[in-house]
Amino acid sequence: MELMEALRTRRSVRQWTTDPVPDEQLEELVEAAARAPSGGNTQPWAFVVIRDQAKLRRLRAAAPGIAGRATAVVLICLDKQRADVEPGTAEYDMVHMTLGAAMQNMLLAAHGQGLGACAIGSYHPASLRSIVSLPSHLELKLLVALGYPVSQPKAPPLRLLSEVCYFEEVGSNRDH
Ligand SMILES: Cc1cc2nc3c(=O)[nH]c(=O)nc-3n(C[C@H](O)[C@H](O)[C@H](O)COP(=O)(O)O)c2cc1C
Repeated sequence: MELMEALRTRRSVRQWTTDPVPDEQLEELVEAAARAPSGGNTQPWAFVVIRDQAKLRRLRAAAPGIAGRATAVVLICLDKQRADVEPGTAEYDMVHMTLGAAMQNMLLAAHGQGLGACAIGSYHPASLRSIVSLPSHLELKLLVALGYPVSQPKAPPLRLLSEVCYFEEVGSNRDH
């Protein structure tokens, strides 16, 4: 799939078939995420892939943001051994932009593989930590729920480019 086409057609998928996703494919999604740019090349991430059904059930109970029965869930974590930063600092913002880039790479790679994925920001961190026994240097930042899509969701309302893209000065579009 051509890159712009992938960017335009990616959607958050929240309903999945029961078909398992092969481990090689899951690993490729993590590879995509781990090839994202990172501030200062810190690569401050760790990814935990969950595809065990019993664990997934517990995970869903601790993550109200997961709407359907995902085939797999990837935990995107900040590795504080690589970037331990204070909230409110510029570095803290940078780490979150970096993890966002990793998330987006993963979402796009999933789309490219014919999978459907959804970023999940609504979860109970403490419950999830214990379900997957996260070591203390890893801080859970985001989940990605995924699997084979039941259908391709419709695009949500999207802002016009002319509302968000300016040339030379804010308020001035490309043509004038
Ligand atoms: C950081 C972040 C957190 C999100 N958390 C959730 C969530 O908890 N549950 C959910 O169903 N969707 C979640 N989403 C998906 C958004 O709702 C979705 O991206 C948005 O509605 C736009 O739709 P699209 O992804 O199809 O373009 C999240 C997206 C991002 C980027």
